[in-house]
Amino acid sequence: MDNKFKIYIETYGCQMNLSDTEIVSRIVKNAGYELTDSLNNANVVLLNTCSVRENAERKIKERLSQIKKYKNGDSPLVVGILGCMAERLRNKILENNSIVDLAVGPDEYRKVPDLIQKAFAGEKGIAVKLSRVETYDDIEPLRKEGISAWISIMRGCDKFCTYCVVPYTRGRERSRKLALIVDEVKKLWDEGFKEVTLLGQNVNSYKCPETNSDFADLLRQCAKAVPNMRIRFITSHPQDMSDKLIETIAEHDNICKYIHLPIQSGSDRILQLMNRNYTYEHFLGRINKIRSLMPDCALSTDIIAGFPTETLEDHQATLRALEEIRFDGAYMFKYSPREHTKAYKMEDDVPEKEKIRRLNEIIDLQNRISKEINQSEHNKIHYVLAEGPSKKDKKQWSGRTDTNKVVIFKPKETTKVGEIVKVRIFDSTSATLFGEIVQ
Ligand code: SAH
Ligand code: SF4
Ligand code: F3S
Repeated sequence: MDNKFKIYIETYGCQMNLSDTEIVSRIVKNAGYELTDSLNNANVVLLNTCSVRENAERKIKERLSQIKKYKNGDSPLVVGILGCMAERLRNKILENNSIVDLAVGPDEYRKVPDLIQKAFAGEKGIAVKLSRVETYDDIEPLRKEGISAWISIMRGCDKFCTYCVVPYTRGRERSRKLALIVDEVKKLWDEGFKEVTLLGQNVNSYKCPETNSDFADLLRQCAKAVPNMRIRFITSHPQDMSDKLIETIAEHDNICKYIHLPIQSGSDRILQLMNRNYTYEHFLGRINKIRSLMPDCALSTDIIAGFPTETLEDHQATLRALEEIRFDGAYMFKYSPREHTKAYKMEDDVPEKEKIRRLNEIIDLQNRISKEINQSEHNKIHYVLAEGPSKKDKKQWSGRTDTNKVVIFKPKETTKVGEIVKVRIFDSTSATLFGEIVQ
């Protein structure tokens, strides 16, 4: 089929969604649609959405009310909601004079072209079944040109942390075959990519459906197959952070020395209520193991402030944990009750003002720590993967260290995108390093 309809996709939420957008892009392209970078010349707009916190959903609702004015034009605009919010809200998203024509959950993207066609015929459509097997293995993601690529290695999540909507929006955990993932890494290298990020809600519970190989096996095979490819991965769960995995990361130079390991809280009582299945002591043990084998490994985390029943004492335990571990960075959130989750049934009893106060205290502390850690980088040498001109100042370039820190530096005339440059750090903020190229 060939048609002149243009599709514009906007992506919200986590990296899994960015990766899914590349899958959807391929599916609609194969069906004959063109993709466009602008809503202004689009016939179809698809929002790939996130439900993880109420704020995320609020943003989408605001965006829909902005899009409404485009729908009144001469040519009809089809509006679709993809992803987690479609899965969570289902029919509700199409009801009450909603401008939304189609809602498609994360496991039904193959139906998008069909539902778009029906929408042009005036029919609203929904596809939100979750699958135990869908991995889109046969669909090659339509990636933008560049040096950095995502590879989804698994879908879904079986952990059921009590605050989290992901197991309900993305269904059961399932892994892709190891051999296919390794082939994909090789192919990406041949196409000019210099860095891949292996994606999953819990990459370290990966299990190959063919060989039963675990995540450490997968990492090792990817690292060996393409020794110059930088290999990253997110997200790891503290419970599944095995010695074997840590040793594998340490053994291979091209597996990046950066681990995102969400702690969520420093209080054992709260961790238990969250169903995280580890204690602070276990978490600290994993950090110590990582640092004993890789002293320079960067670490980041996620924190939730104001979980139900969180006392000042629990909150202090979180602050103490941050002080003791000294993460390089953190993503910090205030607790947001999500329908259907276990925690939703608990009383959301930390007052909003107090949640915000605790969150700000956490942010202030972490920013201070990040700043101090970055200052200790001054005069050190890093190998930076050059990504191209920085957003703020086109004369400067940006890139990332192996430890995933953003470095701003002045390129030489000969510096190329995708090149690894040797940089000495001379300045920093809590979020950025500044460096100069050295020989
Ligand atoms: N699978 C990953 C990421 C899940 S979502 C993991 O387990 O780490 C990313 C982060 O959002 C979580 O780590 C958690 O800190 C935060 N989050 C999830 N649900 C939330 C909620 N209901 N309220 C506030 N933050 C939440
Ligand atoms: Fe959510 Fe927990 Fe699964 Fe992460 S591990 S996606 S926080 S349920
Ligand atoms: Fe959001 Fe769904 Fe990702 S809820 S964080 S887009 S898995």
